[in-house]
Amino acid sequence: MGFKQEFIDKVTQASNLVEIISQYTTLKPSGRGHMGRCPFPDHQEKTASFSVSEFKGVYHCFGCKKSGNVVSFLRDFNGMNFREAIEYLAERNGIVITDDCYENNRPDQPLENKDHKKTLLHANKIAAEFFRESLKRQATDSPVRQYVLKRKLNPETLEEFQIGYAPNEWEALAGQLNRSSIPHAVSEEAQLLKRRKEGTGYFDLFRDRLMFPIHSPTGEVLAFGGRIIEQGEPKYLNSPETPVFHKGSVLYGLAQTAKHVRSEDLVLVVEGYMDLVSLYQAGIKNVVATMGTALTPDHAKLIKRLTNNVVVLFDGDDAGKMAAERSLPILLSQGLFPRGITLTEAKDPDEFVIKFGLDALKKEIEKAPDLFKVILKSWMTEYRGEASDKVKLVDKIKPVFDVMADQRLKSLYADDLCQIMGVNKDWLRNSFQGNAAGRSQGFGSFANANTQRNFVTETPTPVLAAASEAAKADENAQIKISDASKVELMLLQNTLKSRANFALMSDLQEPLTFTQLLSQIKHLGVRQILENAEQVYRQDAEKFDRLVSQLIDKIDKPELLFQNSKLDIAQIGEFDEEKEKKLIVDLISRIQQEFIKDQAKRLALDLKSNTTDAEMLRQFSELQKSRLALKGESKK
Ligand code: CTP
Ligand code: MN
Repeated sequence: MGFKQEFIDKVTQASNLVEIISQYTTLKPSGRGHMGRCPFPDHQEKTASFSVSEFKGVYHCFGCKKSGNVVSFLRDFNGMNFREAIEYLAERNGIVITDDCYENNRPDQPLENKDHKKTLLHANKIAAEFFRESLKRQATDSPVRQYVLKRKLNPETLEEFQIGYAPNEWEALAGQLNRSSIPHAVSEEAQLLKRRKEGTGYFDLFRDRLMFPIHSPTGEVLAFGGRIIEQGEPKYLNSPETPVFHKGSVLYGLAQTAKHVRSEDLVLVVEGYMDLVSLYQAGIKNVVATMGTALTPDHAKLIKRLTNNVVVLFDGDDAGKMAAERSLPILLSQGLFPRGITLTEAKDPDEFVIKFGLDALKKEIEKAPDLFKVILKSWMTEYRGEASDKVKLVDKIKPVFDVMADQRLKSLYADDLCQIMGVNKDWLRNSFQGNAAGRSQGFGSFANANTQRNFVTETPTPVLAAASEAAKADENAQIKISDASKVELMLLQNTLKSRANFALMSDLQEPLTFTQLLSQIKHLGVRQILENAEQVYRQDAEKFDRLVSQLIDKIDKPELLFQNSKLDIAQIGEFDEEKEKKLIVDLISRIQQEFIKDQAKRLALDLKSNTTDAEMLRQFSELQKSRLALKGESKK
């Protein structure tokens, strides 16, 4: 259930892009906009090449070429999804979200529920601050401070992850929550306090533990993981599930690491709190942690928002191997490209980086093979190439192939498999079609898979069922412009840049009107966008100014609206009217030439096969007319 377009527009228009980006970099007024150093962590620059145009609602970096609108900034910098970004912006601008802000008047969750969640988050926030303060208050020779030293956590890291300490008392947090007027019922539901069995009173759930707050991508505290100091059971105590915390849909560390994942275009997936924090401190910041559980489809979706490239870095023990194995179909079903590392000389990534250093781990990451290969290898430890081995192995692999979203990858993996297993492609294909155990088909038979009964496929495990479910969920429908020709993309860029430029095209008169030009544009997406832009331009010219900003959420590669354009679309610099005009006239005529060339080719082909067609002759004379018109145009 999405938001209404009208509501999205209201929220994004109320948002001050300069103000939001200024939280992360200093912007100074320049020309018609603002300039500053690029805030993205992968682009460290000394000179300011990051431009923001408040009136257009877009930003563009001339250095690293990143560009976007307020929503894409929150996504790329903070890892929010579309909905979270809109909710965040609405809240920031004091816009109340009511039922009728949604399409079909049906919000995902009742709004009372939302307020209720807020009270739980508020209680968690107070708890996190309390734990943090209490760690700072501990004496340097206290066990917890000594333990922190032993784990080599430095003060900046503690601060960044808001790591704290739950005192060794029964009612320390309880007292703080009381002082902050949090009702007991709320603290209990947030799983911070527990009710005493013997009647009255509440006691702290976490005592004498090093506390890791678990944040949402937007930085709210959802829950806690508390590590015992030194030895004891359980090693980690985690908040049980609450209305704001579902372990299977939260990745630990994402609030701090999303911007790095985005800029590196790669994420490392580790299992533990300490692994993540330790890698981050060592300088590998594009990491998320699953908190000891197997990766879920929800986790994969969170990752998919930020990058397609995943390196799974699970512990070398059996539990870690199992987790890696189970994550493979889930990652593949989301169309991600997973690679994997099996750590052998250390028990986990934290230990590895402390023992062998940053560069050693970076090297491992660089050369990590596809996770499929890693898992395949572990499945083949006892493989001797007997016929029965082959059948057993293919049965294990089939569920992975069934959920794979990328068909090209699937076909390449199949090639590899044939090689490694020593089978031919027909056999493999046949096995994967589900008729591996077909009874009377005989060896090498290629009977139609649909008429075959399937005897061999097991019912998928819940994880695989979830993965295949997730594979079906499609992406938001987007306009694909990435395969448009360069000329058409340039026309799009340069006409959307300003009202004046757009008018040059939309006001075209005979012999080539705007509508005719549209029909000569080959790329459906470009045509669609221009058609829509013309409507907006006609109805509300002011709205046109923010069109590029709106388009960013609707096209597959928004950077194409900014790239290889010599002129800056954010319009920070000077505006040379004559130059712009010349460029647009030139682009229009190039599109016409392309069109005529194509027409001529097509006609020539048709004429070859059919010489006396009246329709053909009519088209031919039309074409001649356009040619003449074009000549006339270019003389002007
Ligand atoms: N975990 C848990 N409960 C436990 C043990 C583990 O929830 N009793 C989760 C935690 O999220 C932990 C992760 O599983 O971070 C990985 O477990 P493990 O490898 O044992 O912990 P590490 O993160 O390596 O912790 P440490 O280095 O402090 O031993
Ligand atoms: Mn560890």
